[in-house]
Amino acid sequence: MLNYSEKDQKYIWHPFTQSLVDQPPVNIVRAKDSKLYAENGQEFIDAISSWWVNLHGHAHPVIKKAISDQMEIMDQIIFAGFTHPTAIDFAEELLEFLPGNMAKVFYSDNGSTSVEVAVKMALQYWHNQNIKKQTIIAFHHSYHGDTFGSMSISQRGAFNDPFSDKLFDVEFISSPGELSTETKFMIAEFSKITAKGNVAAFIYEPLIQGAGGMLMYEPDVLDQLLNICRSNEVIAIADEVMTGFGRTGKFFASEYMKNTPDIICLSKGITGGILPLGATACTKNIYENFKSNDRSKTFFHGHSYTGNSLSLAAARASLTLLRDSMTNIKFIEENHKRFILKLKTLKNVQNIRSRGTILAFDVDNHQQTSYFNSLRDNLYHQFIDKGVLIRPLGNVIYLMPPYCIDQNELDTIYNAVMDVLSNL
Ligand SMILES: Cc1ncc(COP(=O)(O)O)c(C=O)c1O
Repeated sequence: MLNYSEKDQKYIWHPFTQSLVDQPPVNIVRAKDSKLYAENGQEFIDAISSWWVNLHGHAHPVIKKAISDQMEIMDQIIFAGFTHPTAIDFAEELLEFLPGNMAKVFYSDNGSTSVEVAVKMALQYWHNQNIKKQTIIAFHHSYHGDTFGSMSISQRGAFNDPFSDKLFDVEFISSPGELSTETKFMIAEFSKITAKGNVAAFIYEPLIQGAGGMLMYEPDVLDQLLNICRSNEVIAIADEVMTGFGRTGKFFASEYMKNTPDIICLSKGITGGILPLGATACTKNIYENFKSNDRSKTFFHGHSYTGNSLSLAAARASLTLLRDSMTNIKFIEENHKRFILKLKTLKNVQNIRSRGTILAFDVDNHQQTSYFNSLRDNLYHQFIDKGVLIRPLGNVIYLMPPYCIDQNELDTIYNAVMDVLSNL
């Protein structure tokens, strides 16, 4: 008889995992609040909210109840030609929360699909008007997902190298989060590209480029780029898949800027991290250009599970909890600020940055800052041994805890970081 670990090795192909190099995955048998409980009795504080999705803690009773109540009423129903109250209520509530003039919500399944939908909306917006605008601008170090469209607009490199010939061309501009970037040159570069008049859209992760290394930048830079978008009729797409729902200290990172986007991509925290869901919101202007008696102007996009009623019930419950989460978010932010003072005493810590609940820094090991920095595995396993789930991006360590985390748990995380880094 095989045990679970052996069966896992036999039957499952895990994401972002090289089975010959990586350790076998830890078998989690229960998750509650900020903690994951393993089969072998180990416990882990989830310092990265399980890939940035979990907001209010695992197995939150309010979300659990909402899902179970919804299941009494209905499960999945086709979302073309049919609708349901939970989908309608959530769209209405979400639109109230969103910055700018968002008017419509298009549902999908995850972050990558929310981005695919946004990019397709932007391109078809121009196509429907017979205007030839097809160029898309994105930042270096961007990450927008793993489907072909979202890979195309993401930083080219090891993640998408095997498919490079199949990805569409994008104009990449310097990342404002990279220390070497001189913003005035980057803004000039952006102006020059948009002035050509063929730019359909600019897609960006507002204020924090997540998987690209938790690179952070200031609202003012983005506001200048968004201004240029306005003047040149370029559709601004905010990918808030990671930054949405309170992560940056405001409900949405886009609230830090004066200029608002035309399209917003959402996922991850949207259901409190309990069930999969993607949503792409757009302005009335975007939507109006799809309305026609001509069926060829339809937005031909949809997934079998679009508008899943259980995910949407979870999303409604999570949004209600979010209204009362600002104190917790502030609590995490203030703790991070205090911890930064300690981090500054370590010689091997560089580029400390934080916004809202996210804290990141580079660990200097005399190698380049990169996803493949050899320090990564060493750090990851040391944290795991200390009962803290932190997944460094190469030599970049970041913390992004769920909002329910308490003082004790935060201190355990901070102590683990100090301990590991002091003894490297
Ligand atoms: C900014 C951003 N966009 C899109 C995605 C893709 O989301 P998903 O993994 O749900 O497809 C991610 C995932 O990390 C992300 O951080």
